[in-house]
Amino acid sequence: MKNSPVLRTALILTTLLVTVSCGRAAPATPTAPADAAAKDYDDLVVGFAQIGAESDWRTANTLSIRETADQLQVELKFSDAQQKQENQIRALRSFIAQRVDVIGISPVVETGWEPIFREAQAAGIPIILVDRRAAVPEDLYVTYLGSDFVEEGRNAARVMAGLTGGRANIVELLGTVDSAPANDRYKGFREILREYPGMRIIDSESGDFTRAKGREVMVSFLRTHGRAITAVYAHNDDMALGAIQAIEAYGLRPGVDIKIVSIDAARGAFEAMLAGKLNAAIECNPLLGPQFFELALKVVRGETVPRWVPSIEDVFLPDSAAEILPTRKY
Ligand code: AHR
Repeated sequence: MKNSPVLRTALILTTLLVTVSCGRAAPATPTAPADAAAKDYDDLVVGFAQIGAESDWRTANTLSIRETADQLQVELKFSDAQQKQENQIRALRSFIAQRVDVIGISPVVETGWEPIFREAQAAGIPIILVDRRAAVPEDLYVTYLGSDFVEEGRNAARVMAGLTGGRANIVELLGTVDSAPANDRYKGFREILREYPGMRIIDSESGDFTRAKGREVMVSFLRTHGRAITAVYAHNDDMALGAIQAIEAYGLRPGVDIKIVSIDAARGAFEAMLAGKLNAAIECNPLLGPQFFELALKVVRGETVPRWVPSIEDVFLPDSAAEILPTRKY
């Protein structure tokens, strides 16, 4: 069995609710020309402003975008911002100058996007938010394709409560400061923790979604709190894998002395679960290429698209790791 039936039902219900509540359709593009409806994938020129390559998740996401563009013969202009917002803004400005049909962007942080999004709007180029949201007025993008990060945080807390019997001293490895997943996973986790007075977050610091930083921050948590730490909540697998190395170097057993829950459910998380070093992986789906280009084509054709296209995601426990690992695509 992949995971608890109760949890799975809760996830399905959540997804259905989200789908219904976000079903308000957005006009795809306000100025679709008369021949737009006849366009196909091989007519499209799409600019994609990626964040970087900070995690296994991101690598899988990039591959999905690139491979799908190749398969569909979409002309893709791809930019890697090396985790810097100014590079993403520069990429958007260059896409606008090249008059691409659609821009896709995974915003590294939530804030600071309004001026450049307005430039795209003034040029008549629609923006699709992929994976991460930006804090901008709704009329500045056509749709958001990606996860419910708040729900991922809630699921992490629910699983953690089960693993620890509702009593834990938790250290939290936050994602990139001001990024949508870090903000929302922080919020969702705490929402559920209010029901468990015996679960306390004793420290919380950013590991920037990378393995090296996750390890470094965990070393410092252990230096400060030592054996008082009974659980780790990592906003992604890479940081959890870094934390596992730090815990072992400290002489404790990850997954046993310290329970660990992380988000993404990439292959490395399944391997760690099989080794008994990770206790749960909350899925965040990076394979967004096919849905992204489908939305891009609809937008160019002047069709309406939903305001939010949510990913369908699961929760995995070690008992399913052996069965699932060979089927994992990232
Ligand atoms: O935005 C999704 C997050 O970004 C993933 O959880 C993380 O691994 C990635 O870097």
